Amino acid sequence: MIIAPSVLTADLADLGNACREAVDAGINWMHLDIMDGNFVPNLTFGPPVIAKLREALGDGPIFDAHLMIENAEESFQQYIDAGCNHISVHVEAVTHLHRCVAAIREGGATAGVTINPGTPIDAVLEVLTEIDLVLVMSVNPGYGGQSFIPTVEGKVRRLKEAIDAQVAAGGRPVQIQIDGGVKAHNIAMLREWGASNCVVGSGLFNDSASVADNLAIIHSALE
Ligand code: DX5
Ligand code: ZN
Repeated sequence: MIIAPSVLTADLADLGNACREAVDAGINWMHLDIMDGNFVPNLTFGPPVIAKLREALGDGPIFDAHLMIENAEESFQQYIDAGCNHISVHVEAVTHLHRCVAAIREGGATAGVTINPGTPIDAVLEVLTEIDLVLVMSVNPGYGGQSFIPTVEGKVRRLKEAIDAQVAAGGRPVQIQIDGGVKAHNIAMLREWGASNCVVGSGLFNDSASVADNLAIIHSALE
């Protein structure tokens, strides 16, 4: 199981050190929540900050950009050029999804499609052969620290079945990433549903313990 810290709930006034604390704790996949104040009410950071984080952390960690923005089709290359290895776009915000994920790959990143809690997986199934990851939102996007929405279980299981069928037919595997309200108490359940990558924000960055201690609690929940 890949644990992907969402830096949204970290100390944004000291973002470089927060990310370094996660990398020093053994994290190799950083989940960067990019919000434009239009697709979601919140507004976070963009390519200039990402470029500085890449400078600070070196080439090691994977930077996964979760684009919660209206113009992802036009702007994703800036995030790749700033140092992102993976780009996930929201199916709800992209007009030409098949063309967009192909362009992300051509642009030098792996491609992901994100679906909100209320969005069925059908739209993703049509591009399942063209992507590397599906990001299933288990909260409504915009903020960290929200409660997990358990009704996403059915679509995660259906998605896993579709991916397993694709692989059995000789197709490529696709990661299922679950994002929102993931904690030590539910992460093993999400693995059983079929997730191999979980975003954890407030479960890692909080006032009750260090990232390393919180990560150890999560890892023990997966043993
Ligand atoms: C919400 C973001 C999530 C969120 C996760 O829009 O996409 O990545 O920050 O934070 P927690 O784990 O606290 O729900
Ligand atoms: Zn996210």
